[in-house]
Amino acid sequence: MLWGSAISSYQAEGDNFNSDWWEFDKGKSSKASYFWYKWKEDIKLLKELGQNAFRFSLEWSRIFKSENEIDFKSLDVYKEIIDELFKNNIEPILTIWHFTNPIWFSKKGGWANKKNVNYFLDYINLINRNFQGVKYFVVLNEPNVYSFKSYLEGTWPPQEKNLIKAFNVLRNLKEAYIEAYKILKNKNNLISFSQNIIIFKPYRIYNPLSLISTILNDKFFNFWFIEKVKKYLDFIAINYYTRVFVKFFSKYTYKENSQKNCFGWEVYPKGIYEICKRIYKKYKKPIMITENGICTDNDFQRIEFIKEHIFYIKKAIDEGFKILGYMYWSFLDNYEWAEGFEPRFGLIEVDYKTGERKIRKSAYFYKEVIT
Ligand code: BGC
Repeated sequence: MLWGSAISSYQAEGDNFNSDWWEFDKGKSSKASYFWYKWKEDIKLLKELGQNAFRFSLEWSRIFKSENEIDFKSLDVYKEIIDELFKNNIEPILTIWHFTNPIWFSKKGGWANKKNVNYFLDYINLINRNFQGVKYFVVLNEPNVYSFKSYLEGTWPPQEKNLIKAFNVLRNLKEAYIEAYKILKNKNNLISFSQNIIIFKPYRIYNPLSLISTILNDKFFNFWFIEKVKKYLDFIAINYYTRVFVKFFSKYTYKENSQKNCFGWEVYPKGIYEICKRIYKKYKKPIMITENGICTDNDFQRIEFIKEHIFYIKKAIDEGFKILGYMYWSFLDNYEWAEGFEPRFGLIEVDYKTGERKIRKSAYFYKEVIT
């Protein structure tokens, strides 16, 4: 089984000048976690910490500086990272798109414009030519969260609040996923996308509005995308963080007096088992947990989090559900999108002024458990 941790390019690499997020946050992500400069050292750390898998992403805007200008030097760096992982017997789990787009792509209307899907497929074709040795591909990260944050809530670029656009974006991402799958698929690889799954519960069981809203949230947020692409999934990749109690529509709250992470999200470890059970029974496909983690300033809370979630992963395995792997989020403290640098998710603490790494106790705890 694969036991590892995850990062994403924009959140960890640093200096992603050509990304729509760089334009949006005016370069606030800066050197991020310095991964672009320290990946060799980081792979040593992964090895030292007993992990046999690493999920990371390619930065589209680094590779395609403009729609027809490929930066082969950056492409080579990604190849070196993959080679170095293989040398250390660490399985790369390669995410192709983790929320960020090249500025030139967003100027053309980004994901809201159906014609732009072809630009993404140019990128996929390049990846297909260059990364044949990779076994696990995660083509997209959380299209549901992206469409919600960027086109409904309006807190992420391009900061729109438009239901129709939000839906078109999802549809275009779905088209992009299916076409990408067809391009990348060969007999040696396994391809999926990461879905953020939230456990939705009704705030009041006897309140019809609360009940219907819960069902709709589950149906659209959790399952719409999976249902649309299920013929093109070699495994189901799940990012799991929390459970919410739905009042009406998208208004929700967290359980009172429960344990919370630094955002106030409930820590609900049993949820990871509930989801694996539900998804395995429904789709009969292997599952990979591609993200699960906690932001906290108290590393003992992180140890408890890991212990309890892995307890429930074990229960799922014992009951016969096929689990391919578990990736803790995150390997390194990193740039948490609109919330910036404050939330600390890492197994490894990062000093953002110098890039210095310090291994947390939780990283050693995780090592012990997975060993
Ligand atoms: C995203 C990550 C993010 C994490 C914690 C996930 O939904 O994929 O990029 O850092 O949540 O908020």
